[in-house]
Amino acid sequence: MHVFHYEKSEFFVEQVSLSEIAEAVGTPFYVYSQKHLTEQLNAVEEAFGAVPHLTCFALKANNNPEVLRLFRQLGAGADVVSRGELGYALNAGIPPEKIVFAGVGKRDDEMAFALEKEILAFNVESEQELDALNAVALSLGKQAPVNIRVNPDIDPQSHPYISTGMAKNKFGIALEKAFSVFKKAATLPGIRLLGVHAHIGSQILSIDPFVESARSLRKLVLNLQAEGIILSLIDIGGGLGVDYVQVIDEPPLEPGDVRQPPTPAELLGAVLPELSDLNCRIVFEPGRFLTANAGALVTRVLFRKETSLKKFVIVDAGMNDLIRPSLYQAYHRIVPVEKKAGKPEKVDVVGPICESGDFFAKDRLLEPVARGDLLAVLSAGAYGYTLSSNYNGRPRVPEVLVDGAEFQVVREREKL
Ligand code: LLP
Repeated sequence: MHVFHYEKSEFFVEQVSLSEIAEAVGTPFYVYSQKHLTEQLNAVEEAFGAVPHLTCFALKANNNPEVLRLFRQLGAGADVVSRGELGYALNAGIPPEKIVFAGVGKRDDEMAFALEKEILAFNVESEQELDALNAVALSLGKQAPVNIRVNPDIDPQSHPYISTGMAKNKFGIALEKAFSVFKKAATLPGIRLLGVHAHIGSQILSIDPFVESARSLRKLVLNLQAEGIILSLIDIGGGLGVDYVQVIDEPPLEPGDVRQPPTPAELLGAVLPELSDLNCRIVFEPGRFLTANAGALVTRVLFRKETSLKKFVIVDAGMNDLIRPSLYQAYHRIVPVEKKAGKPEKVDVVGPICESGDFFAKDRLLEPVARGDLLAVLSAGAYGYTLSSNYNGRPRVPEVLVDGAEFQVVREREKL
């Protein structure tokens, strides 16, 4: 049984009914299942088996302090992309030696802060960044631990906004150029060269692009070895996709994208053999896989409205709370928190924001709902809250963590 499920006509997460939480905290709110978060991380750890590795949760997917603490307790590190995210990770007690710092645009003060904290590695994305990091490190009397991020020019077959490893993308250093940048890095006094990094995209649903990327990394590591440059770390990035359709036991009323993502065991079972004889520790940076299907956004129907063309269901959450449908045309399943008798209807589920881009679903077959009913927008645990904003003067919503029959508010609703 999925952690989100119906008991009779009531929708539950683990053993807590979503109506009960709505009554306690009001709407809208995000809710996460501790069980699912734990199971996902454990699945990754099991797939690695005895291979020396570190799982660094990409906390851009979800930066709730309790979620981070849970992952820390389960042994995970963090993949951060800013001074702010590094602060979240450290505040949650994640040890600096388990933190990698990525991103194409790091400021000098961010580099200095991370150097002071002695993180595991900077994932460096350009030659200028390498020079700047070298200078900042020397000014502090330190050496910066570095992985060079390469761009292996692979199409991950995902949405263009979240494809990052193609030649036209801003990320990493092209493989042809990378070799000389590694050679240079090995000579810079403020740089301690550790390894290589690649992250080719997000919501990737097939194993092939990962294997192709691993093969490129392998070739590079061997070429560098031949030149006497010995790396000790290979960071394979994140990107493992999740199923956004079959996330509860009931099939959707209409078929969605039916492509099944690989499991961590399938993914790592194919990738690790490419890398296992290179004597390098493997870093993996999953974000979405760990949290997406642990979460839902729960919202209340404010009004219904019919035009000559459409039936609108207007809810109290908006694109400021969950922007994925508006920004990436992403599909999220939407289900009623209390199932009622009646025929499904084709509706647009929209928010209160003053833009036509403010929608959660268009022309979607939905169970019958009326003013006052609760809806759960599923698979919202990754890139939901973290991408939320105050647009239209709307306070960010609270986050609730469920553990068995208990729930607690793990981030309060913002005050006006
Ligand atoms: N590592 C790096 C360097 C990344 O840039 C990312 C995500 C990850 C790891 C984690 O990727 P994941 O395992 O979550 O696929 N907001 C978009 C997704 C943006 C992904 C950005 N980078 C969305 O909602 O689909």
